[in-house]
Amino acid sequence: MASTELISIALKMVARKKGILAADESTGTMTRRLDSINVDSTAETRRLWRQLLFTTPDIGDYISGVIMYDETIRQSDDNGLSFVELLADSDVLTGIKVDNSTHDLAGAPGEFITEGLDGLRPRLAEYYKLGARFAKWRALLPVDDGIPSEYSIRTNMHALGRYAALCQEQGLVPIVEPEVLMDGTHSIDICRSATDRALRVLFEELDAQRVELSGIVLKPNMVISGTDARNRASAAEVARQTLDCFSANVPAEVPGIAFLSGGQGDEEAVLNLNEINRLANAEDLLWELTYSYGRALQAAPLSVWKGEPGNVISAQSAFQRRGLDCSAAREGAYS
Ligand code: 13P
Repeated sequence: MASTELISIALKMVARKKGILAADESTGTMTRRLDSINVDSTAETRRLWRQLLFTTPDIGDYISGVIMYDETIRQSDDNGLSFVELLADSDVLTGIKVDNSTHDLAGAPGEFITEGLDGLRPRLAEYYKLGARFAKWRALLPVDDGIPSEYSIRTNMHALGRYAALCQEQGLVPIVEPEVLMDGTHSIDICRSATDRALRVLFEELDAQRVELSGIVLKPNMVISGTDARNRASAAEVARQTLDCFSANVPAEVPGIAFLSGGQGDEEAVLNLNEINRLANAEDLLWELTYSYGRALQAAPLSVWKGEPGNVISAQSAFQRRGLDCSAAREGAYS
């Protein structure tokens, strides 16, 4: 059993009606996002964007926690209040992305390994002091002929286990994120088999590395067709396959599953989450099933903002609308 503190943080992260905002884009990724609205990417414009999100009225009604990047956890609002404290005032937890991104996996063309284990223990201790109470590490599994290989699954899931064990030792709840990528023309059945294989090995590794499952949050992909698949599966099929896959692989001790959006359209990410929750409610499944969305929460407000101070309030309204839609879907009550 994980410590009482870890369990209560994990439960808070997946609390009813709420989900997690992934605002942990690395500087490179955030620069691409800002380029798309013709805004120069500087520490100050990145701070202004995150401030806009974090000061949205009533953010604590639909966001339980925010995942930040190293730069952001050290930043403050215009009044000098740290983002960690600002969010705490709205009862929102701070999390931190701690992986050092994905790199080519040796001997496996087209596959990746997530780096960042060296020196992780003192980094986690520092983030805890800065106020973080959970962390994130993302393993990336592209789909192609013969991919993901068993080799890539084993090495990536082993690294996730090492990360998760270190987080729990340092008092942080690990978000464990094995992402089977949507990019490609593959069918939902191929995504299902890759997700099955990844989750099976993941839970073997977490068990072998003594990770307490009651003190983690799983952040997986939904079981879904590739972005460019010819006949993309319906939301009902996504829900059925996703829940069958998790029922077969995810132990009941895991308190919650927070899905990534993975490049789904805004409406698609809401409709799929809604169907998953409707089906889970009908079947009395035990886990909380929520969102940990990046693009599906931020794309709409970013396009309204365009870097203009005069657009802040309307961009915040757009963010709030996305949050409330996701919140309804997380209860299976979106219409
Ligand atoms: P997306 O919802 O944009 O996939 O981002 C979530 C995330 O944190 C990926 O690591």
